[in-house]
Amino acid sequence: MGQLWKGRFKKELAKETNDFNSSIKFDCRMFEEDITGSIAHATMLGSAGIIDKEESEKIVKGLSGILEDIKSGKLKIDMDAEDIHTFIEGELTERLGQTGKRLHTARSRNDQVALDIRMVLKKETDEIIEKLKALVEVLCNKAQENKNTIMPGYTHLQRAQPITFAHHLMAYAAMLLRDIDRLGDVKKRMNVLPLGSGALAGTTYPLDRNMVAQLLGFDSVSQNSLDGVSDRDFCIELASALSLVMVHLSRFSEEIIMWCSWEFKFIELDDAFSTGSSIMPQKKNPDIAELVRGKSGRVFGDLTALLTVMKGIALAYNKDMQEDKEAIFDAVDTVKMCLDAFTPMIDTMTVLKDSMRNAAAKGFINATDCADYLVGKGLPFRDAYKATGELVALCIDKGLTLETLPLEEYQAVCELFDDGVYAAINLEKCVADRLVEGGPSIESVEKQIEKDKKAISI
Ligand code: ARG
Repeated sequence: MGQLWKGRFKKELAKETNDFNSSIKFDCRMFEEDITGSIAHATMLGSAGIIDKEESEKIVKGLSGILEDIKSGKLKIDMDAEDIHTFIEGELTERLGQTGKRLHTARSRNDQVALDIRMVLKKETDEIIEKLKALVEVLCNKAQENKNTIMPGYTHLQRAQPITFAHHLMAYAAMLLRDIDRLGDVKKRMNVLPLGSGALAGTTYPLDRNMVAQLLGFDSVSQNSLDGVSDRDFCIELASALSLVMVHLSRFSEEIIMWCSWEFKFIELDDAFSTGSSIMPQKKNPDIAELVRGKSGRVFGDLTALLTVMKGIALAYNKDMQEDKEAIFDAVDTVKMCLDAFTPMIDTMTVLKDSMRNAAAKGFINATDCADYLVGKGLPFRDAYKATGELVALCIDKGLTLETLPLEEYQAVCELFDDGVYAAINLEKCVADRLVEGGPSIESVEKQIEKDKKAISI
């Protein structure tokens, strides 16, 4: 197929130029949006009297036929074409002759491609939001089953204070809900129609841009034609929101990897979502989690690529901008792939509750509660902290825990202790007392689960 812009040129295009210039290998995935966008444009051209109504109808029919044929496999997209826009317009002209050539009236590939990417990314963003919601739902269900599962909460990867596994999982639900919110926000700014910007300076034809916006489900039309064709903020914003999704999935993955090591043994992954070693027969590896953690690098790379492509180009369109698609599509595909594997892995994992409880029993994670007990007896917190610190040191020396340290030892450090201390440092009680909004008590976590389930049902 020849180029659309052939008229000015005397020589044929070098094969190397076409190979280098062509974007069809990665923009062919926009065929449906390209055709739908063209159908709306042609409909508007007919309705505004810019082209003949009859011809507009013929174009719409022709485009619908092309769409059908690509979907059914009857029409193969030519991988030597310059891009998907060229291919579809060329095919239309082949089918309709002169009439096909009227489709591009009052339009440039610059506003056309800006439209297509927005349409594709709106759909992809919705799909990712749904996948994130599915993961949040799995987390809510797992949390529901683990409201009583005591585990050590960590800071500096040192056992710190008692929490429940439910509470820990709901922390990730909170992050993912913010991701969903961010993606919704990105979509708002994506939902502006650039078509009508022309190559850069709009057009002299009396376009009805609002009609096209309405036909294609856009909230509004872009306000400046230069900006309309040269803005890719929405790609960058999406890549940035997706990078945060990957930061969250990657941190979660890191914990999964630790939790299923022999050192922790807090969870066991289902066989269907683990892999083995070719040499070590005992191995069961958390490859999915490791790959998700690794793939975060790709998505951050995509964001960096987009920022770098855009930072130095004069207005309006420049060919550099063709680089937007591979980066943003890679980010989208990577996140979707990660979520598809990650969610069922979490859903099917076994929580080793006793092991978590055993880990919680070591590491003095009730030391703060012990200090708080003394505060309840009237001691200032700083003094209570110091006395408890001494008790912990004593326990370490004697190979004991706060639970097994005899009362006389407590009283030797501070006479305010009585045998009520044992109830005060009971881990279940320590968790149950943390009734504060957002805390790990059953009541607080139930509220978090309820709120989050509501948020994902909208
Ligand atoms: N394939 C091009 C891209 O993705 C389409 C726009 C071409 N516009 C142009 N003026 N050459 O950016």
